Amino acid sequence: MAAPVAQSLKPARRSFLNWFIGAGLLGWAGSVLYPVLRYLRPLGDVGAGGPLKLTAEELAILNKSHFVIARAGTRKVIVFESAGELRALDAKCTHEGCTVQFVPGDSLIWCACHNGKFDLDGRVLSGPPPRPLGKWVATREGDEVMLTMETA
Ligand code: FES
Repeated sequence: MAAPVAQSLKPARRSFLNWFIGAGLLGWAGSVLYPVLRYLRPLGDVGAGGPLKLTAEELAILNKSHFVIARAGTRKVIVFESAGELRALDAKCTHEGCTVQFVPGDSLIWCACHNGKFDLDGRVLSGPPPRPLGKWVATREGDEVMLTMETA
């Protein structure tokens, strides 16, 4: 009597195991392919000078940390809030290209690589950077922040 019951359960168990192994392989393939495809995806049609809209994630970081590093094509832009004013500068140090940071307590932009310091308008205060940081215009439109490179 026991043999027919075991026989009837066998196909169900086997199909469940096949489904389980297939789902596992599909998950594994997705976890390998997704980062590769994401890396290969073009950066988009945002020009290097903008206009650029901060993503919701970048806005959350800006609201929490008072600054965020955003990407504009292949460039990086540091967006920060000081005394209620929204500002943006090139985030690439003019010395050797390290990414700068906003230091709200000292009201300056700081490059940790060689201790370069810039004021909030991007002018060099001290250290080895030879030129000021490029300026961007940051405008808040409702819940959105738009960035455009400032033309001299
Ligand atoms: S790279 Fe910024 S100070 Fe040298």
